[in-house]
Amino acid sequence: MTDPHPLLDRLREAVGAAHVLAGDDEAYVVDWTGVHRGRALAVVRPGSTEEVAAVVRACAEARTPLVPQGGNTGLVGGGVPDGSGRQVVLSLTRMRTVREVDPVAGTITVDAGVVLADVQAAAAAVDRLFPMSLGSEGSCTIGGNLATNAGGTAVLRYGMTRELVLGLEVVLPDGRVWDGLRGLRKDNTGYDLTQLFVGSEGTLGVITGAVLRLFPATPRHATAWVAVPTVADAVALLTLAQREGGAHLATFEIANRQALDLVLAHLPGAVDPLEAPSDWYVLVELAGTASDDGLDDALERLLSLGVEAGAATDAAVATSPARRDALWALREGISEVQKVEGATLKHDVTLPIARLADWTEAMGPRLQEVLPGVRPVTYGHVGDGNLHYNLNAPVGRDRDLLDAAPDLSRAIYDAVAAEHGSISAEHGLGRTKAAAAASYKSEVEVDLMRALKQALDPDGLLNPGVLLTPPAGT
Ligand code: FAD
Ligand code: MLT
Ligand code: ZN
Repeated sequence: MTDPHPLLDRLREAVGAAHVLAGDDEAYVVDWTGVHRGRALAVVRPGSTEEVAAVVRACAEARTPLVPQGGNTGLVGGGVPDGSGRQVVLSLTRMRTVREVDPVAGTITVDAGVVLADVQAAAAAVDRLFPMSLGSEGSCTIGGNLATNAGGTAVLRYGMTRELVLGLEVVLPDGRVWDGLRGLRKDNTGYDLTQLFVGSEGTLGVITGAVLRLFPATPRHATAWVAVPTVADAVALLTLAQREGGAHLATFEIANRQALDLVLAHLPGAVDPLEAPSDWYVLVELAGTASDDGLDDALERLLSLGVEAGAATDAAVATSPARRDALWALREGISEVQKVEGATLKHDVTLPIARLADWTEAMGPRLQEVLPGVRPVTYGHVGDGNLHYNLNAPVGRDRDLLDAAPDLSRAIYDAVAAEHGSISAEHGLGRTKAAAAASYKSEVEVDLMRALKQALDPDGLLNPGVLLTPPAGT
């Protein structure tokens, strides 16, 4: 086994002793969910691309595995080390320079460690929009967003992270730097290497910089929290929203009553904006530029048509920016309050939109057979066919949820596979879902993924055990 000390000395030389931290620092070795608690040889915090390259080279020579990490808000345990104490965590959070903003070209070039909210703010400062929006935007980083191909609440209009990136700078597993920081819209000069790294979850390279796309600012919003009786009604309302909102439809999110109840119980200041309870709710938002005048009318038309069709029973429309924030908090607060409520089993699934209603209806009773009293806290990006079909334990019985977890997840994933859906819509596979994903993919697909990994990282030093399970016999 490698003697760790010579490597630690090299790491200190590479980034300065103050930026090599102990390997048991909870901020870096425990994930946001608290489910994955690892231990590292050290946590290294380089301040530049050159320093990242020096760290990667040193670890490659010492054959020591590396775990790239951004804001550590990932939900599948991909950014924290395993329990061996042999892995080095490479945190990008000191790399937070906005390198260039070009409002005319519609691009922004940033270090990988820049926090998503800071990218949004830098875009807003030049009257542009960087549309990616996640509940974790105050702490997740662009490098992490790219590595997970994050989704969020603006995918419906602007697409996933991979649709928002034009070029990347990446440190390869052998320490060489690939400078692909091109902001070109058109570049058909071979394989698309940028897209190869997007969604690779730190297993193929360490992203150190990115050129991202900007869009016209959308300062105007029309927002409503709508009671809908069923998921089928939510989907019917989505069809109306697409017709009435057109290109202005920016967000269409769903939450069940259990999700709202948890927010009302645990989020300070949260208030139910509607009088009568409903089984399901939708947060719908139209967004437009300064010259888009008709948003409020379009929303009103949409809501009237929804009520006429029986797809909506009531709605609270935001009449001020503060009211809009309050409605958004009901949706964005759900992850946080679920954690407060206790043990949570997360399932981030995509289904064909037309199958969402039947699938959800069938799933409830099936899960009650596995664990009577289990509480589905269902919410997510229904406009993208993406449900967070998360489960909380029967009240006071966290242990039972953990014991039943394999059976509950298998029932959900089998039902997703039967609809040709995906068992990870936007959070990635990390450590939590690598094995499950492999069991639902064809041999050909898994072989192709392994071939890419082998070509770029033949010694398997970048994030081993994440996204791909170790090959048989290793
Ligand atoms: P980390 O958690 O640090 O890392 C995530 C993965 O990326 C790991 O595999 C890590 O190794 C890799 N990685 C990180 N940085 C780099 C890099 N520079 N180079 C190479 N690999 C790297 N996700 C969504 O998609 N949609 C949501 O709506 C959403 N909402 C959330 C709400 C809350 C409250 C929370 C806590 C999380 C939410 N997430 C959501 C999940 C999470 O925020 C995203 O996955 C985010 O993209 C992770 O960014 P991060 O910087 O925290 O990455
Ligand atoms: C969200 O959309 O709020 C998150 O992606 C869901 C989660 O925390 O499970
Ligand atoms: Zn989500």
